[in-house]
Amino acid sequence: MQLIKVRDYHEMSELLTKYFIDQIVSKPDSVLSFTTGKTPQEFLMKLADAINYGLDISNCIFMNLDEFVGKKDAAYSVHRFMHTYLYDNIAVMPKEIHMINGEAEDKEEELKRYGNILKQHGRDIQILGLGINGHIGANEPGTPFNSRMFVADSLETTMRSTKDYYGLKEEEVPTQMYTMGFTEIMEADHVILAASGSSKAYAVKAVAEGEISEDMPASILRNHPNFTFIVDEAAGALLK
Ligand code: PGA
Repeated sequence: MQLIKVRDYHEMSELLTKYFIDQIVSKPDSVLSFTTGKTPQEFLMKLADAINYGLDISNCIFMNLDEFVGKKDAAYSVHRFMHTYLYDNIAVMPKEIHMINGEAEDKEEELKRYGNILKQHGRDIQILGLGINGHIGANEPGTPFNSRMFVADSLETTMRSTKDYYGLKEEEVPTQMYTMGFTEIMEADHVILAASGSSKAYAVKAVAEGEISEDMPASILRNHPNFTFIVDEAAGALLK
């Protein structure tokens, strides 16, 4: 694990952008897998700026970690988030964009379809946000470390975060999510986990200094040979 401490959310976003730019410059046909939420929001906007200033992504493949079960245009969908913060703001598109279809009628078929896409395209970078309970994607505490792409029932805490972040009414909150499992996450050549803010401090400490355990999902990343953990001052406040 390479632990990198930055000052704040903005510095974190700048560093994430730098990792992606360096990757794309050194390998123009990179396969990059994104996540959504507060963590990558500013980073995606900065990446859009870099693309509009000439960063050539036309040979890249972009994809995503997860997606809520629900309508594509729902306020909380990964599809909508990626369009709002990235795809709607760039003039040149990547060669391929892959996202999970949260509207699919047959969830098993959709898991198979996206699973096949993952098999075809090894990821150069997978970026992840950290749940306050240590989850990554929808791999919540207790999910077996050998999990493969599946549909997860969201925990109460996760549903509350989604509700607050997107300003949803109680009845609008999605309850299930398609997610890469630990297996697919660990397959990426480089995994970058980013955490900002004091609400993440407990999970950051547990992931960096605690036991590697299914009770703390992101702790598995310490077994990854190329794992970068970026934390800002508030998120890293409890670290030794
Ligand atoms: P956040 O969410 O990026 O909105 O903080 C991370 C997560 O809970 O997975």
